[in-house]
Amino acid sequence: MDLAGKKIVLGLTGGIACYKVAELTRALVKTGATVQVVMTRAATQFITPVTMQALSGHPVFHDQWDARIDNNMPHIDLTRDADAIVIAPCSADFMFKLAHGACDDLLSTLCVARPMTLPLLIAPAMNVEMWQNAATRRNAAQLKQDGIVLLGPDAGEQACGETGMGRMLEPEQLLEEVIACFQPKLLAGKRVLITAGPTFEAIDPVRGITNLSSGKMGYAIARAAREAGAEVTLVSGPTALAAPYGVGRIDVLSAQQMHDAVLPRAASQDVFIAVAAVADWKVSNRAESKIKKDACGAMPSLAFEENPDILAAVAALPSPPYCVGFAAESENLIEFAHAKRKKKNVPLLVGNLGPQTFGKDSNELVLFDENGHASLPPGDKLVLARRLIAEIAARLAN
Ligand code: CTP
Repeated sequence: MDLAGKKIVLGLTGGIACYKVAELTRALVKTGATVQVVMTRAATQFITPVTMQALSGHPVFHDQWDARIDNNMPHIDLTRDADAIVIAPCSADFMFKLAHGACDDLLSTLCVARPMTLPLLIAPAMNVEMWQNAATRRNAAQLKQDGIVLLGPDAGEQACGETGMGRMLEPEQLLEEVIACFQPKLLAGKRVLITAGPTFEAIDPVRGITNLSSGKMGYAIARAAREAGAEVTLVSGPTALAAPYGVGRIDVLSAQQMHDAVLPRAASQDVFIAVAAVADWKVSNRAESKIKKDACGAMPSLAFEENPDILAAVAALPSPPYCVGFAAESENLIEFAHAKRKKKNVPLLVGNLGPQTFGKDSNELVLFDENGHASLPPGDKLVLARRLIAEIAARLAN
C-alpha cells in the first residue's frame, strides 16, 4: 500500500475529465490514501459531490462558507494534516487562478493558504487550443517556477472532437505520479539507461527464438529510477507491458538491435542497468522467406553465431556509466554470479534463481559486489526495484 497513512486533498475543477477522477479516487483509496475531495462549483456540473463522497468515503467540500468545520475555516483546516494537494482535472481557468494567487472560492483559497512545504500537483485538462493559448503557456511557466508540479497533459483525441495536447493523464498514470511524489529523490539529475524484457532472434520472417522474460523486473526498475528523480530511458525487447509514465522507451526485437540502441547512448548516462534476458546466439542461416514444411524434404537445420554482449561492451567503454548486471541462474547462484560479475567487469551484479521468477510479480534478489554478496528481503518487484535503486544511489554517492 504505497499511500498508506497519506492524506490527499483531491481538488476537482470544471472539465469533462472529472469522470475519470472518480476512478482516480478509488485507486487512491485502494492504495491506502485518505482522500478529502474539494470541488469547485464548475466541477459539480460534471460529477456530483454525492458520487465523490461515496468513492472517497468522506464528505465533500465545495463551498467556502461551510459550517461543518468548527471554526468555519475549511481553507485552513483541510490542508494542515494533508501530505499533498492534487488538482485533477485542472482547468485553464484554475491554472490562471493559481498563477495569480486568486482566492475567490474554497479550492483556490485553500491552495493559496497551504503550507509552503505541502506539495501541489495539478493535472491540466482542456481543449488543445486552450492549452496552446499564449496566456495558458504563461500561466503554466509561472506555475512551474512557483514549484507547482504539472502532471501532463497528454496528447490525443479530446472529448470535444479535436485532437492534440490537453488530455488529462489517465487515472493509472496520475496514481503513479502521486506515489512518485513521496519517493526520495535519490537519483535527482541522473541519467539512467535500462534494458528489459526478452530478445527475439528471427529464424525466418514469421518464426523466431525468444525466452520467458516478461520484462516486469526491468520495467519496475525503470519506474523506481524515475520515481527517484532520474531521467530514464528503457530499451525494451518485446513485452506486453506499458512503459511507466515519464520513461522514454525504445522498442527493439533482437539482441543486435538492443546493442545498437544502447551503445550510442551509454556514454552519456550515469547508470546502466542491464536487466534484459538477451539471447546469447542469433540464427546465422536465417531464411529470407518463410520456411515451408514440405520444401526442404528434411528437418530444417539451424546454425548459430554469437550475439554481442551489451553489458560487457558498455562496461568496456573508456568512461563507462555505473554498470549493473543481472544474472538469472538455475543453480549455483553464488558461484556463477560472482564469476559473471568479474567476467563482465561490472561493479554490481544482481542475481536471482530464475527462471521460476520469470513473469511473476515477486522476486528474490542477491547483490554481488567486490565486498561479497547480500540478499534483499524477498518481495514485490516494485518494492525490490526501489531497494535496488537505493543501493545503486548509495554506491554512486561513494
Ligand atoms: N547481457 C547482455 N548482452 C548479452 C548477454 C547478456 O547485456 N548478449 C547481460 C544481461 O542483460 C545481464 C547479464 O549480461 O545483465 C548476464 O546475462 P546472462 O544471460 O545471465 O549471462 P551470460 O553472459 O549470457 O551467461 P550465461 O547465459 O552463460 O549464464
